[in-house]
Amino acid sequence: MKALLFTFAYALHSVAATSLPVHSDSDESVQATCSSSTFTKVLPQGASIEKVATVPQNGQYGEGAADLNYPYNPTGLPALCAVTVKVVSSNESSYRFGLFLPSSSQWTGRLLAIGNGGFGGGINWLDMGPGTHLGFATVSTDTGHNSATADVTWALNNEDTKSDWGWRAMHGSVQLAKTLTQAYYGASIKYSYYSGCSTGGRQGLKEIQTSPDTFDGALIGAAAWYTSHLNNYVVQLGMYNLPVTDPKHIPLALFSVLGAEVIRQCDGVDGVADGIVSSPELCNFDYTPIRCKGSASSNCLTDAQIVTAKKIYNDWYSSVDGRWLANGLTYSSEDQWSLYLNGTAPHAFGVEYVQNFLLNDPNWDWRTFNESLVTFAEQHDPGNPTADQVNISPFKNRGGKIIMYHGQSDGVVPTRISETYYNRTIDYFGSLQSTQDFFRLFLIPGMQHCALTTVGAPWNIGATFQPTTMATNLWSVPGFQDKQHDALLALVDWVENGNAVKQIVATSWNSLINPNSGVHAQRPLCPWPQKAKYSGAGSVNDAKNWACA
Ligand SMILES: *[C@@H]1O[C@H](CO)[C@@H](O)[C@H](O)[C@H]1NC(C)=O
Ligand SMILES: *[C@@H]1O[C@H](CO)[C@@H](O)[C@H](O)[C@H]1NC(C)=O
Ligand SMILES: *[C@@H]1O[C@H](CO)[C@@H](O)[C@H](O)[C@H]1NC(C)=O
Ligand SMILES: *[C@@H]1O[C@H](CO)[C@@H](O)[C@H](O)[C@H]1NC(C)=O
Repeated sequence: MKALLFTFAYALHSVAATSLPVHSDSDESVQATCSSSTFTKVLPQGASIEKVATVPQNGQYGEGAADLNYPYNPTGLPALCAVTVKVVSSNESSYRFGLFLPSSSQWTGRLLAIGNGGFGGGINWLDMGPGTHLGFATVSTDTGHNSATADVTWALNNEDTKSDWGWRAMHGSVQLAKTLTQAYYGASIKYSYYSGCSTGGRQGLKEIQTSPDTFDGALIGAAAWYTSHLNNYVVQLGMYNLPVTDPKHIPLALFSVLGAEVIRQCDGVDGVADGIVSSPELCNFDYTPIRCKGSASSNCLTDAQIVTAKKIYNDWYSSVDGRWLANGLTYSSEDQWSLYLNGTAPHAFGVEYVQNFLLNDPNWDWRTFNESLVTFAEQHDPGNPTADQVNISPFKNRGGKIIMYHGQSDGVVPTRISETYYNRTIDYFGSLQSTQDFFRLFLIPGMQHCALTTVGAPWNIGATFQPTTMATNLWSVPGFQDKQHDALLALVDWVENGNAVKQIVATSWNSLINPNSGVHAQRPLCPWPQKAKYSGAGSVNDAKNWACA
């Protein structure tokens, strides 16, 4: 079941949360009963219990189709207590969150917050499931509204709900979840973690930047952190290929022609011809072999179309003063181009963002788009979602650790945006070393947005959306639920035992989303700027024949 393939995780309230002794020794844990009264007595004013339910071993839980962005419930859960809380965030707004509390004999003393996707609202119950199998209490917020991923109409003239999506619902939900978790177990939380991709990546970075005490470790995927630039870029990107009647327009059928030629030219640049483009930045792509000799046809690009393709791969710079505005898409992202580049208008992540989020003008016409909107978005950033701060010393200084990852075939959030954030962080901390002490970036060759691959590349590291993209009852990396293969478990080991993550072995299966089909390939992912290097002997699909260098 590819439930979440297109969920596109892009995606202060004044509740007085008790401050938590994060690293205290665990008290004798005494599990309270799974009933409202356990929780109501510790809730601050403005927060109320919506529902408390006991889920039996091997049960399922969620809100089903009513939860527009997460219509699938996690199944095969361990026995747990499920709590739904509503929090009033202003006179005009409120948000909800869900909390899964495994039985006290299964609880490891850890909390795990899970991120959302796109502009969607809804408690991400599905992705709360996996953490419970590993002994985490897990929490997810609905971000203050209920909508599908590409629906931004909820934001129109709704500044408080924008703030809830931007940061407030995540912050408030996690603080309250800590209070409820400790009330339930009668014990302190020892460590708090975060895992999210796309919007989820942005949410995690935002919380680290604004509230460095919230998490001890964060797994940050394909972070859509630069809202003010990125969502405007989605309009610009779409316009490169519009209108469809213009000779410059590249039709859907040619994306795969371009993609196949990219693999033919760029795959071997990294030293191994395996169909996986691992060093797109080293490829000097030559359009000549696919350039039309005569008239346009379905297997070649005209000069006008080649100009368009170059714009898509290049970064976006100001035509006024030349300043950098956004990262372009990478070579090998072509299989996901249909999302932004196949329409008759730019994608909703761009157009609806400008209409409902930025300008509060549902009649704004994307044909009038120009780069001044980036400056406007920088200045106003409605709801404060943009997570562009690199002064994260307070998080580092209290021992916080970050694992960031990004698929190198991502056609939704450009891969280089993670490198941009990482480079800025290195500039801030003064060196790669002082950054790597607490923050490491892992690029995943051949992986698309947050999960999956079209080229058999090892992609699964047990991150949010990955097991649940395959089936509702899976968690971690099926068959490899250990810190060598699961990035969250590697993060836990780094935070709690000081074992810095030197590599993570990613996995793919013979049948894309069926782990029972047998392992297709495993390969180490390396802390940027290192890359996995093939030893030159043995199967390229076996991790032991690769090393980070
Ligand atoms: C909510 O409304 C009350 C009563 O009108 C007002 O006193 C209060 O300041 C408002 N609070 C916010 C956060 O706007
Ligand atoms: C591309 O656009 C066409 C025309 O709107 C549509 O029929 C088709 O389903 C789209 N394909 C993809 C993969 O989005
Ligand atoms: C860009 O768009 C803004 C807002 O629509 C408009 O005021 C401005 O004149 C435009 N600038 C250019 C150079 O077209
Ligand atoms: C990050 O910095 C490295 C080293 O200076 C550079 O090669 C790379 O192009 C930068 N990446 C981005 C996305 O700017």
